[in-house]
Amino acid sequence: MCGIIGILGKQDAVPHLVDGLRRLEYRGYDSAGIAVLNDHAIERRRAKGKLDNLAAEVDQHPISGQVGIGHTRWATHGVPSENNAHPHMTDKVAIVHNGIIENYLDLREELSEKTNGSVEFTSDTDTEVVAHMVGYYLDQGMSPKDAVTEVLPRLEGAFGFVMIFHGHEDLMVGARQGSPLAIGYGEGEMFFGSDALALAPLTRRICYLKEGDWAVITPEGADIMDMQGNPVEREIVQTAVSGATIGKGNYRHFMLKEIYEQPTVIGDTLTTVLNPASQTITMPPLPVNAKNITKVTATACGTAYYACMVAKYWVEQLARIPMETDIGSELRYRGTPLPEDGLALFVSQSGETMDTLESLRYARQEKQNILSVVNVPESTVARESDAVLLTQAGPEIGVASTKAFTTQLTILACMAIGLAKERGTLDAKREAELASALAEVPGRAAEVLNHDEHIAEIAKTISEARDIFYMGRGTAYPIALEGALKLKEISYIHAEGYAAGEMKHGPLALIEDDVPIIMIAPSDDLFDKTASNVQEMVARGGRVIFISDKKGIAKMRRMAEPAACIEMPDVDPFVAPILYSIPIQLLAYHVAVLKGTDVDQPRNLAKSVTVE
Ligand code: F6R
Repeated sequence: MCGIIGILGKQDAVPHLVDGLRRLEYRGYDSAGIAVLNDHAIERRRAKGKLDNLAAEVDQHPISGQVGIGHTRWATHGVPSENNAHPHMTDKVAIVHNGIIENYLDLREELSEKTNGSVEFTSDTDTEVVAHMVGYYLDQGMSPKDAVTEVLPRLEGAFGFVMIFHGHEDLMVGARQGSPLAIGYGEGEMFFGSDALALAPLTRRICYLKEGDWAVITPEGADIMDMQGNPVEREIVQTAVSGATIGKGNYRHFMLKEIYEQPTVIGDTLTTVLNPASQTITMPPLPVNAKNITKVTATACGTAYYACMVAKYWVEQLARIPMETDIGSELRYRGTPLPEDGLALFVSQSGETMDTLESLRYARQEKQNILSVVNVPESTVARESDAVLLTQAGPEIGVASTKAFTTQLTILACMAIGLAKERGTLDAKREAELASALAEVPGRAAEVLNHDEHIAEIAKTISEARDIFYMGRGTAYPIALEGALKLKEISYIHAEGYAAGEMKHGPLALIEDDVPIIMIAPSDDLFDKTASNVQEMVARGGRVIFISDKKGIAKMRRMAEPAACIEMPDVDPFVAPILYSIPIQLLAYHVAVLKGTDVDQPRNLAKSVTVE
């Protein structure tokens, strides 16, 4: 969602604000803005659309100041427009905000009554009322800290915000409830940021605020308080996030670069748990003895949820533990009972997804043992878990998840092996086979990337389609769901993923001449059944793009001729979902390029979803 940066600096903050926003743009990109303090006033520049528009606006109408705040927006209340872009301000205070103030209409009414309607709102946002409320108390002569103390308890919903105050060049206030916010410690300078990525070029010394914390920063340091105003101590950590410029290199898009990074980052992830010499997997200690686990409940959103779905097959088959998967926005409200000695698993690239995080908190209330798989070690999900399995994907900037997904699958496959070993449901011979199959994945992934040009050709044949279907059985079923999601989010073509065996229960009615069907069919125990489904599609005129290994393709061709085939390496079916993710990512990518969409920043989406 929105990205926030605040700088209480010793030199002009404007270039650093714009640079910080560039690093945060993946979080939201419908508008952006900055505000700085100078001797006379708070000055602000805002622009609708991408950050380049704001940068151009700042070039044309320069401002400067050592103290400033910046924001990239993902609209919740009010259309993307300059008026609705943050910062919102009065003559005394400016605010940038991430999250949703749920009672903003009540607060607006209350403020209008108090001021006899003299407050003029210039945006449709939920945020602006906070600026006016703080402004109201400042007008009564209160200090910035006292004014914020009055307003904070009145705010319902989720927020991470930062405020600057006219006439107070030596302080800045930030608060966190439901949306992440960190303090950065420099030499005589202090910072706020919605994640460490924004602050990395400025400082590595970071303090992550906890839920309900708020802080007043001055050049000397930070006073951190809880919502009742009691001082609290929070640890300052050295973040591992790199301050290096995040660039696309020679790639046209971040997404393509991240697809191509997969052999490396899958290898990096495996290195943390797999010993190729002994062909063994050693997982870090779990929060519960695996032998006692009664059930695994896995929760995530979007692509990360599909990773959980694949893991369900692995955990149930290898470790023989019943596993349930749920999407975050459902589990948190479902009131589902979770059993004693249950393992609750949460999978999230960002570790900040609101629905996943709130489900984690629900599982905590239900006394579950909490394990998370995250890509950002300092994230809230990681910090609130009993144990963490890290993916080594590195920063993922393209909004469509690619390398995060395959590294999630990689670590989840290892987790399933680890659970099975501890429970005695996997012998050493099979462990060695699985470990060696996993060890081969980086090399096999590199081979799959060699099909890029062929996949780009296939993309031409489907880029004009209105609807596209993805199908598979077993672990290929969640990969079909992921393929459909990838295509729709970046190419805007309607796509559906189905379990291949489910087609005849309804969706088959949609298959007619030339409807593209992407069939994911590794040579596994279910291959023959999938091949029969292909025959059913071809018989109805469907244009099947068949993804399988050499043996599978040859067998298929003896039954029916697919419109196109993508030949995958011959691998143990256990690791197939990791590898078969790659051609569907490339296919979505090339279709999107042909459609001319904004591949890295697709419309209406944002990278880290910190609102409901
Ligand atoms: C799709 C995509 C999203 C995310 C989802 C969860 O390509 O990226 O579906 O997977 O928003 O995000 P995280 O993993 O950060 O919790």
